[in-house]
Amino acid sequence: MLEIKDVHKTFNPGTVNEKKALKGIDLKLEEGDFVTVIGGNGAGKSTMLNAIAGVWNVDSGSILIDNMDITNLAEHKRAKYIGRVFQDPMTGTAATMNIEENLALAKRRGKSRTLRPGITKQERNEYYELLKTLDLGLENRMTSKVGLLSGGQRQALTLLMASLQKPKILLLDEHTAALDPKTASKVLETTEAIVNKDHLTTLMITHNMKDAIAHGNRLIMMNEGKIILDIKGEEKKSLTVEHLLHMFEKVSGEEFASDKAILG
Ligand SMILES: Nc1ncnc2c1ncn2[C@@H]1O[C@H](COP(=O)(O)OP(=O)(O)OP(=O)(O)O)[C@@H](O)[C@H]1O
Ligand SMILES: [Mg+2]
Repeated sequence: MLEIKDVHKTFNPGTVNEKKALKGIDLKLEEGDFVTVIGGNGAGKSTMLNAIAGVWNVDSGSILIDNMDITNLAEHKRAKYIGRVFQDPMTGTAATMNIEENLALAKRRGKSRTLRPGITKQERNEYYELLKTLDLGLENRMTSKVGLLSGGQRQALTLLMASLQKPKILLLDEHTAALDPKTASKVLETTEAIVNKDHLTTLMITHNMKDAIAHGNRLIMMNEGKIILDIKGEEKKSLTVEHLLHMFEKVSGEEFASDKAILG
């Protein structure tokens, strides 16, 4: 489904600010893999997701989706294969448009602009049923402006929009980090439901080790631009925070620096 082969990325090459952010990333995801990604600040987690999304060109290596080489494909051209949700609840939705208009936008992404702009009754019914699955009562507020929603409601809606066209890969970059703990756990539950329903291949970055362990079928840890741990199957199921910290220290030769990740 997704294959990353020996990808390197350097920011500001040849200057005093040169930063090798990815130093040979190799990763192969099977269809339906739900991978949690953990690592300290600056480990390269967001950079890896940006490389997949095509925010800029990588230095070397290749990226394939469904055996199709997208390494040099422009960001907007690969967008139809990719769903993304970021940390900031304000970024994924259009605040001045209402809920159903946002969903219609997501539904029409990548399609011809000559399509009728109105929302059909059938689409409205479809959105109603989709919103109901979130269990937030948004199905009864379809004509409310999205700017009136809470951060958690907006993230849940963004998730729904990102998954509406069944992307080949769903990229989540700390999408619950800006929410209070209760809302974050609700949005994680929603994430799990959406990913499972459509069997979506997913990469989810989190700062919280417990969340990384509790969700998905596979966990990777990054450090200094490399993937240093890749844990799946039964080993992933029986993983504990202590065990993970121990493995991190063994592989990296240093202590895991983020208390927030450990205590989270
Ligand atoms: N656009 C950019 N220009 C310059 N440097 C960048 C850019 N994006 C990332 N970096 C640098 O690359 C390194 C990896 O950053 P990245 O954002 O991938 O880390 P991360 O693992 O997501 O960390 P965090 O947990 O803090 O989000 C960092 O040193 C960062 O400063
Ligand atoms: Mg990041």
